[in-house]
Amino acid sequence: AAPGTTVPFVPSTPLTGTTPHSSGRVTFPEGFLWGTATAAYQIEGAGAEDGRGESIWDVFCRIPGAVVHGDDGLVACDHYHRYREDVALMSRLHLGAYRFSTSWARVMPDGRTVNPKGLDFYSRLVDELLEADILPWLTLYHWDLPQALEEAGGWPARDTAYRFADYAVTMHEALGDRVTTWATLNEPYCSAFLGYTAGVHAPGRTSPELGLAAAHHLMLGHGLAVDALRARDPEATLGLTLNCTVSDPVDPTNPADVDAARRDDAMFNRVFLDPIFRGAYPQDLLDDVAHLNFADHVRPGDLEVISTPIDALGVNYYHGSAIAATPQSGERPDGTAGPEGERPADPSAPARDLRSPNPVPEGVHAHSRGLPLTDMGWEVQPEGLTRLLTRLQQDYTGPRGTSLVITENGAAFPDVVEADGSIDDQDRLDYIDRHLRAVRDAMDAGADVRGYFAWSLMDNFEWALGYTKRFGITRVDYATQERTVKASGHWYAGVARDNAVPA
Ligand code: NOJ
Repeated sequence: AAPGTTVPFVPSTPLTGTTPHSSGRVTFPEGFLWGTATAAYQIEGAGAEDGRGESIWDVFCRIPGAVVHGDDGLVACDHYHRYREDVALMSRLHLGAYRFSTSWARVMPDGRTVNPKGLDFYSRLVDELLEADILPWLTLYHWDLPQALEEAGGWPARDTAYRFADYAVTMHEALGDRVTTWATLNEPYCSAFLGYTAGVHAPGRTSPELGLAAAHHLMLGHGLAVDALRARDPEATLGLTLNCTVSDPVDPTNPADVDAARRDDAMFNRVFLDPIFRGAYPQDLLDDVAHLNFADHVRPGDLEVISTPIDALGVNYYHGSAIAATPQSGERPDGTAGPEGERPADPSAPARDLRSPNPVPEGVHAHSRGLPLTDMGWEVQPEGLTRLLTRLQQDYTGPRGTSLVITENGAAFPDVVEADGSIDDQDRLDYIDRHLRAVRDAMDAGADVRGYFAWSLMDNFEWALGYTKRFGITRVDYATQERTVKASGHWYAGVARDNAVPA
């Protein structure tokens, strides 16, 4: 069995009131990276072109009821054909970096055999970016496993980790002469637990055991890929992106709430952070899931591979969570929060709580704190980002000399297109403004944050919620594929140009 780590869960006290940088102009250090982020399946389209194979998302989207309105990514933002226009847009927005993902099934349709036409697309994209002086920040896996590998067992099968490392090497052989920044995984939490335990993401399987096995094999795949890329390219910047959260007990004096928050923290944060930065799974998590055969998947040597040093930890932050052991009044009997809670009051949305797929869900309930909500039903809580970054710096990245990058932050809001075609999305602008100030506060407190990527460059396919949620700083008219920069996009361009958030 894997040795456990001894980092205790210490519930932090939420800050209240304003933070030091709540108003006024805020500057960032020279060289701070300003970018936007996207992901292959969410924007590319060209689902059946140039030999692309199917991924688990192509198959999942065909399941009736799996995705709102039966939407899929077959056309999406048609970025595959419009990438030049999209890179030109980034240039106009003064962006210095672009975080995108490559589609494994496009470059290896069966997960194993190379498709040169698929590689060509990313080669052209990278050239276009470099030509525009935009740093390509490449993510190898943003949830779209080749369906052929799912049929061979998917992430719960150990072999998938080795296939992933081979794919990483293939990509590096093709692009390593031009791409210097490589992330292995995006949000393995979602791949493992939304995909294999909750079943709300592809491949839609529903087993706590499978989710945990997937989590370990994702970690193993990450470590194997980092090892392989490091051996090929000692100078590269290597890392991965996690969706970390801040789990606050609703009542810090109630031991049951504190324990619920501890388990939430274990499943969102420490299950990935501890093996990567401390070479061990958290002991409390191992105890909690002892009945789910998790430790059986962890073979001798795995944790050494997983804890191979990385250069940058990507942090995706959207909101923190107030966690209690008991449901909040108003929570529905199926465990999903009522309209005032986590889920939007959208009758067309599937009645599922994206926060409930915890493999140890008994007694973990997210409560509403009455903070403002985005269109996702997520609470707007910028100060949580300050605390999160400070904690990561102190407990994980700092001691290992790993830097931090915000690889996603942003908000969905129901945009209104004015008569003149403009979109005055002050809500999204304000969301990004407040989170940038929170990042700066964390930096003042010692967090080594090197960059910020807004999610997203443009509206796109929001997974199980289809095209109903718009996160873009650029609007996409899906009927015409026309891109229109929103007020938030114009504002963000100024931030990137001036390296400062205006007063
Ligand atoms: C995280 C994911 O990485 C991204 O794909 C998604 O669209 C955003 N969060 C918004 O939910």
